[in-house]
Amino acid sequence: MGTTLHRQCKRRLIKNPVAQDKRGAIVYYVLRLIDQPHAISGMFFLDGNIITRDSRKKMRIAITGANSSVGKNFLSHISEHGNIDVVAGVRSEQAFVDLPASPQIRPRIINYDNVADLTEALDGVDCVVHLAGILIENKYSNYTSANVAATSAVASAARQAGVEHIVFVSVIGADIDSPNGYFSSKGEAEKIITESGISATIIRTPILLGPDTAGAASLIWAASQKKTKLLGGGNNTMRPLDVDDLSLAILNSCKTRSEGATVYELVGPESILYCKLIKQVASMMGKEVSIETVPVWLAKIGAAIKSRIKGGGISPTVIDVITMDEIVNQNPSDVLGVTMTPLQKTLEKILANKK
Ligand SMILES: NC(=O)c1ccc[n+]([C@@H]2O[C@H](COP(=O)([O-])OP(=O)(O)OC[C@H]3O[C@@H](n4cnc5c(N)ncnc54)[C@H](OP(=O)(O)O)[C@@H]3O)[C@@H](O)[C@H]2O)c1
Repeated sequence: MGTTLHRQCKRRLIKNPVAQDKRGAIVYYVLRLIDQPHAISGMFFLDGNIITRDSRKKMRIAITGANSSVGKNFLSHISEHGNIDVVAGVRSEQAFVDLPASPQIRPRIINYDNVADLTEALDGVDCVVHLAGILIENKYSNYTSANVAATSAVASAARQAGVEHIVFVSVIGADIDSPNGYFSSKGEAEKIITESGISATIIRTPILLGPDTAGAASLIWAASQKKTKLLGGGNNTMRPLDVDDLSLAILNSCKTRSEGATVYELVGPESILYCKLIKQVASMMGKEVSIETVPVWLAKIGAAIKSRIKGGGISPTVIDVITMDEIVNQNPSDVLGVTMTPLQKTLEKILANKK
């Protein structure tokens, strides 16, 4: 352990221009030797509990699920920062074309079943942004493989590669004891990250709105209809979060970190009933939509049968998630360094990007 730590310190010092000055190197070595492996690095300034990265130094980030809607948005934000290099991890070569092209972004195929391969992908990486995960299961991906096993592999690989920080995007409602399979899998993933021994920022989010997000697509589709049928009449409360705000929160989280794992619940600035949200979008499109109600219990019976036959798709579990009231009392936008985008502005953006 001592030798590994020593080798890790040495490797980092060579790569690390701040720690290359004598004082930085001594502080770095001492703090590592008193067993603070994930807490301190010569690349960071200490400010109370929070350690802030020196913004002049180049940072290396790896993203899992880089072709997800959040991943693509995050990558487009990174392209605006010259001092960050990214390993954009995807599961197949076909996904490469979906990623923004930039000299800072290096696409790489990663395999969650092979921790050694993942560890190699994370070599020299300062922060991992773990985005891979699903709400809707299919024949090839379920909550256990996509949300739990993939997280476990990423945490193990990050530890072996000496990664200093993990940012994990979770969901409002994540709870290992939840009777809902999606929420419990996200709760289990949070536990894996929390217990990894690596400094971590966990950001729980509500429905995300932005170009390419599933939430925006279904909102625009529903608002485009003359009559739209909503589960429970769309009387559930939402706190839609602009995906640009989430990307900024992720980026800021990569730059600062504290001891252990911190969980934040980041939601949009306004609460709104889903039915009202649809009417608002319809009116912005110059349309009028009438809302009809599908009883949730009836939809769940249909979904149970259909998802069983198809081996995935909209299931009763998914229906419970999308009809849940998203209620959060405190928004940590200040802590995460984000000025929340007003809902109206977010809706204007998704309509401007509508395909
Ligand atoms: N969108 C939302 O409203 C929302 C709300 C709360 C939380 N989140 C969380 O935020 C993260 C990003 O969401 P998103 O909507 O941007 O995702 P997305 O567009 O649906 O993309 C899902 C990603 O997960 C990967 N994936 C699927 N099955 C996998 C498996 N078995 N192992 C490893 N990776 C797998 C996909 O890779 P392939 O393309 O290769 O299948 C893809 O990169 C997810 O963890 C999601 O749970 C999203």
